[in-house]
Amino acid sequence: MTPVIEGRYADPAMSPLELDATRWLDGFYQLEHLFNTRMWAIELSNKAASPELRFAAITHDAERFFPGGPTDTPENGFDNPDYLFAHSIRSADIVEAWLRERADVVDAGFIKRVRVLILRHEIGGGAEADILQAADSLSFLEVFDWLTVDWVRRGIYSVERAREKLRYSLERIRPPLAVKIALPLYEQAVKTLEMADRIDMDLAWRRKVAGDRRFQLGLA
Ligand SMILES: [Fe+2]
Repeated sequence: MTPVIEGRYADPAMSPLELDATRWLDGFYQLEHLFNTRMWAIELSNKAASPELRFAAITHDAERFFPGGPTDTPENGFDNPDYLFAHSIRSADIVEAWLRERADVVDAGFIKRVRVLILRHEIGGGAEADILQAADSLSFLEVFDWLTVDWVRRGIYSVERAREKLRYSLERIRPPLAVKIALPLYEQAVKTLEMADRIDMDLAWRRKVAGDRRFQLGLA
């Protein structure tokens, strides 16, 4: 299981806009995944990620925080385009609306580029979107190992089905550097999943800290 480190995402280079978005999404159980996706996007860009890529990374799944989003059933698999497209469009719309409220500090070109990246975060296409998609996958493998255990314990997915999600996350990655990084993360995540019934973990606590902005930024 990937260890939980308080303050792991403290980053003096985080922009005021990024920090503001994390205030907006505070309490979202995927917040840690968003921080982690941003971290991987920066890493995969040789520390030269554009402000748009960083911002898209830290907000790309925002819609799941707000009730009324698309749902999927396990039988449809993890790459169901109906769900993935609806999820991506709703996230892009919600993030765009949030950015438009800040028109005094954000220009229209930035909003447009962030929107395109979020729309593409599940499918890639172009260098930056491929990096975002890969960072999203790396992050799932690294910090959502507990979520696959949670799925199995709640009876949402069998171990075999949850393993398919890990495999899907691995196989959709395009940048060779990201594939290299993903392989050990995948193996570790599979190991954790296979111990789902034995692992000693307070999943309610794990979910809570995942969504706790102060914990993730080390502000507590
Ligand atoms: Fe994601």
